[in-house]
Amino acid sequence: MKPRGSAISGIGTYVPEAVVTNDDLALGLDTSDAWIRQRTGIRQRHIADELTAASDLGARAAAAALDDAGVLPSQVRLVVVASISPDHIMPATASRVAHAVGAVNAGAFDLSAGCTGFVYGLSVASAFVESGMADHVLLVGAEVISHLLDWSDRSTAVLFGDAAGAVVVSATHTPERILGFDLGNDGSGADLLSIPAGGSRLPASHETVDERAHFLKMEGREVYRFATRVVPDSAGRVLARAGHAVEDVDLLVPHQANLRIIESAAKTLGILRERVWTNLERYGNTSCASIPLCLQEARSAGVLNPGNLVLLMGFGAGLTWGSCLLSWAATDRGIAGGRPSDRGGGKAEMSESSEGAGLT
Ligand code: ACO
Repeated sequence: MKPRGSAISGIGTYVPEAVVTNDDLALGLDTSDAWIRQRTGIRQRHIADELTAASDLGARAAAAALDDAGVLPSQVRLVVVASISPDHIMPATASRVAHAVGAVNAGAFDLSAGCTGFVYGLSVASAFVESGMADHVLLVGAEVISHLLDWSDRSTAVLFGDAAGAVVVSATHTPERILGFDLGNDGSGADLLSIPAGGSRLPASHETVDERAHFLKMEGREVYRFATRVVPDSAGRVLARAGHAVEDVDLLVPHQANLRIIESAAKTLGILRERVWTNLERYGNTSCASIPLCLQEARSAGVLNPGNLVLLMGFGAGLTWGSCLLSWAATDRGIAGGRPSDRGGGKAEMSESSEGAGLT
């Protein structure tokens, strides 16, 4: 038996029903389906209604992940929510999610690392589990970014979508486990992608509202350059540390920000296109939810199987980046002791079929 490690033992996702296509956006913005598709690969995104917050989506994904793992809410010791669109600055969205799912024995906090939040969160969850501080950690990426977008700014409004994805990270003694991380940050780029107002640097005032400074701002070109530069390097480091070559990777699951960034990173790394999972054409950039959304789809499509070597890659505001290498564990019925009989079956929720999902 191998020493104690950590593995993803369950996945759940939740996506709001309403779909907004590129053509819908072009009705109110000086943009076009052709521009958005060509520059980003995005065709449509799901958008939450005005009363829905990140914790509402996150709680539904979290409940589905627990069910998938066969872990009771009371067994969870820590709930982490990664988000760029939390319910509030204070309190933590994780507190609401933990309450909603009944994780009464868990600590709860939010993690802010831009769109890299899911990979960072996975490193925290993994460290808690491997150290013995928790047997089960619930990690949720939950976003209602649509509420923080300036819908009159075509350079950002077309890029993002709302969704939540959650995983349970559990202790394991099998070889199918999380193998390592590479995390990085360059704060000199903090202003390239931010929500400038509403925090202690620029508190809310009439002026900040007039200047639309509570909405997401981005220097797209600079972020693009950064991402294509740092992400392949980070992935190379995590592979080297684990003693793996790029040819060993069965599935690359990158953060879904832009198809051109993904293609460029895969090419630089030398990973075959057919081993790269993408779904941003249907969801847009769902920030911290994008990687679990992909994992769920890839598993449902039968291309994510126990023992597969999976490489996760994230990047985002901060500027941050992170990679994770893992040997996929036997999820779907849970590595964590099976599904409690009184909780019913059913896979994690998706508001639409996985048709069209997939490997690029
Ligand atoms: N529709 C039509 N035209 C547009 C639009 C739009 N939606 N947006 C910008 N344009 C115009 C610009 O005004 C510009 O016009 P000009 O040449 O007359 O000045 C032209 O299109 C080209 O603009 P660029 O910004 O140079 O376009 P680019 O090819 O760089 O694509 C994009 C923009 C898609 C934003 C790209 O830079 C990108 O994807 N960057 C990375 C963004 C990213 O990944 N962000 C997420 C990080 S994760 C996180 O933490 C949130």
